[in-house]
Amino acid sequence: MTAKISIIGAGMTGSTSAAWLAEREIADLVLMDVVEGMPQGKALDLLEAMPVLGKDVAVVGSNDYAATKGSDIVVITAGIPRKPGMSREDLLTTNAEIVGKATRESLKYSPEAIFVVLTNPLDTMAYLTMKAGKLPPQRVVGQAGILDSARMRAFVAMELGISVENVACYVLGGHGDEMVPLTRHSNVAGIPLNEILPPDRLAAIVERTRKGGGEIISLLKTGSAYYAPAAAIAQMTEAILKDKHLIVPAAAYMQGEYGLKDMFFGVPVQLGRMGVEKIHEYKLTDDEKAALQKSAASVKDSINVLHQLEKI
Ligand code: NAI
Ligand code: 2OP
Repeated sequence: MTAKISIIGAGMTGSTSAAWLAEREIADLVLMDVVEGMPQGKALDLLEAMPVLGKDVAVVGSNDYAATKGSDIVVITAGIPRKPGMSREDLLTTNAEIVGKATRESLKYSPEAIFVVLTNPLDTMAYLTMKAGKLPPQRVVGQAGILDSARMRAFVAMELGISVENVACYVLGGHGDEMVPLTRHSNVAGIPLNEILPPDRLAAIVERTRKGGGEIISLLKTGSAYYAPAAAIAQMTEAILKDKHLIVPAAAYMQGEYGLKDMFFGVPVQLGRMGVEKIHEYKLTDDEKAALQKSAASVKDSINVLHQLEKI
């Protein structure tokens, strides 16, 4: 395999991302974690699954960043997840330390890598990655929007008893409770959601989508979601490696788009081999603009905390 993806943080999302990626057979994989033996054990286990799956993928586990040398993509999932009752913002101080270090260490061995960030609070950690690594904005993208949109798609498909493939949903904004499910832009086989779902059912789906992460945490009790977030990581990294020019909702650095500057925020992002190729702008109603501004204000607050902590 010529391409290489390193995943920093071999916990639930990191190792599940590796599993989804191995099935796609698009890159050799490195799992890197601070816990001794754990990334090595998970990597060996996954490697031993390859003959069953019929995929020729090398999988290496390590506690040493040297193993990540020459990566095309570095995925950052290192950090602590939420427990019941915690917000994504409660993770900020601890995860800022971890993500800053992961970025700087990874860059020593992969100076050209594109960074895909998952660690929460997502928009703030993507911003920190760009700043800590002194990276050009197109080389950092955060995963949140594919997950939030997939949750909404799953709920709509369940409600109508139809294939998830027929459902397109777009959730933009920060990865928090103020996220913005854009119902006007979402549809079922081209039929706008508000024509196919009664208002009360649509409102219930929007609310469940916003709280989707918390719903899983309250069920799991000891961690947060990992199958769906990891599937989103696999989709994003494949789009980058294959230069697909794929437009997905994801967190990108804002330079005036949607009236926002100097922050990461969930918007329609076009992904290709250079990373973020373009941010697409929807024409929005005043209500939609106001909802995005409210979400942006809470991301800005979180970034301000990062400044106060002098993490950037
Ligand atoms: P986890 O606890 O299962 O895994 C995190 C791993 O990071 C652990 O194995 C830990 O040892 C490792 N780690 C800690 N410090 C490290 C360091 N300095 N260097 C390398 N590895 C280090 O947690 P999980 O479920 O994988 O979640 C990881 C992060 O992703 C959390 O912050 C969580 O909130 C976030 N998340 C974000 C999502 C999104 O959509 N943006 C979705 C799901 C999780
Ligand atoms: C989620 O939305 C924990 O942010 C993560 O599931």
